[in-house]
Amino acid sequence: MRDTEMKGPVVVTGAAGYVGSWLVMRLLQEGYTVRGTVRDPTNVKKIKHLLDLPEASERLTIWKADMDDEGSFDEAIDGCSGVFHIATPMDFESSDPENEVIKPAINGLLNVMRSCKQAKSVKRVVFTSSAGTVDVQEHRKPVYDETSWSDIEFCRRTKMTGWCYFVSKTLAEQAAWDYARENNIDFISIIPTLVVGPFIMNSMPPSMVTALSLITGSESHYSILKQHQLVHLDDLCNAGIFLFEHPTAEGRYICSSQDVTIFELADLLKNKYPEYNIPTKFNGIDEPIKPIHFSSKRLLDLGFQYKYTMEDMFDGAIRSCREKKLIPLTAEEKLYEGESK
Ligand SMILES: NC(=O)c1ccc[n+]([C@@H]2O[C@H](COP(=O)([O-])OP(=O)(O)OC[C@H]3O[C@@H](n4cnc5c(N)ncnc54)[C@H](OP(=O)(O)O)[C@@H]3O)[C@@H](O)[C@H]2O)c1
Repeated sequence: MRDTEMKGPVVVTGAAGYVGSWLVMRLLQEGYTVRGTVRDPTNVKKIKHLLDLPEASERLTIWKADMDDEGSFDEAIDGCSGVFHIATPMDFESSDPENEVIKPAINGLLNVMRSCKQAKSVKRVVFTSSAGTVDVQEHRKPVYDETSWSDIEFCRRTKMTGWCYFVSKTLAEQAAWDYARENNIDFISIIPTLVVGPFIMNSMPPSMVTALSLITGSESHYSILKQHQLVHLDDLCNAGIFLFEHPTAEGRYICSSQDVTIFELADLLKNKYPEYNIPTKFNGIDEPIKPIHFSSKRLLDLGFQYKYTMEDMFDGAIRSCREKKLIPLTAEEKLYEGESK
């Protein structure tokens, strides 16, 4: 712990997930009392990694809340000084995207905002947005900053992999900005690009499905990796706490430390992990392509510094996936009886 001052309580929604659980760990280390929300607190398998964290028995409580239920976050948020809203439906393959992904993301964020207004104790809400709110456009630009918004009509028309997630995050964040302005709520959004790094949850994090798709062969995710940007999970969580605590933070903040093309990523993985059959040619993606830059200038100008390299991100992610038996150790190894990869 950095100091002995006790801070909070703060709420982390989606506490059991990939980002949420690491943030809970970091907040506990920083001396915060934390209320983590999950949809089913009785599912011990899904929250054990939280309960096992150092200091959890003293300063972590688990609360039930569902983004689909009006008023669901009232109890957890009542009396808290801050809220980190992380929860969101991440199902790229949903058969009913409007009702399973888009509506819950928007209504869930507005539910959280209403609970904050009602509680009166909340000094700041930090919303984890997504790069998917910024650059999903027909003609992508070479550089992006926080002034840009994704093109909803283009997403709905094209239905590219992840389209409903991009729509859900964009509409949710825009609705939250309106609500925050109308109700005088101190609201900040942090905009991570693809988050990669070691993790403590026990199932496969959704972003690992994309980040490690060159290892697992999930070809539908290659289009996302074509020109993409990355941030280490620990850098993201530290940036979230930094923005929560910073007295003059306001508005949107991109959090991204690395710009990369699918070819550069394939090179790194092929050299570092020759035991996997990393592809180097991709249907429909021709070289040469240049990376697209996501500018973190606003965050860096405020004094935040990134700690990790791209190699750190993938080494950590692959190590965690291997330890938890989520990916095979080599291309040939079978994870489960009768199944390859
Ligand atoms: N990982 C990335 O690369 C990345 C990049 C950009 C932005 N983000 C943002 O970071 C946040 C966390 O993502 P993640 O990667 O940690 O995904 P994750 O592991 O799937 O975590 C999302 C959490 O949201 C919760 N959730 C889903 N639907 C819910 C609902 N209807 N009501 C309440 N909770 C619900 C789930 O909670 P349960 O435990 O209750 O199932 C889950 O733990 C998201 O807002 C995402 O948009 C992530």
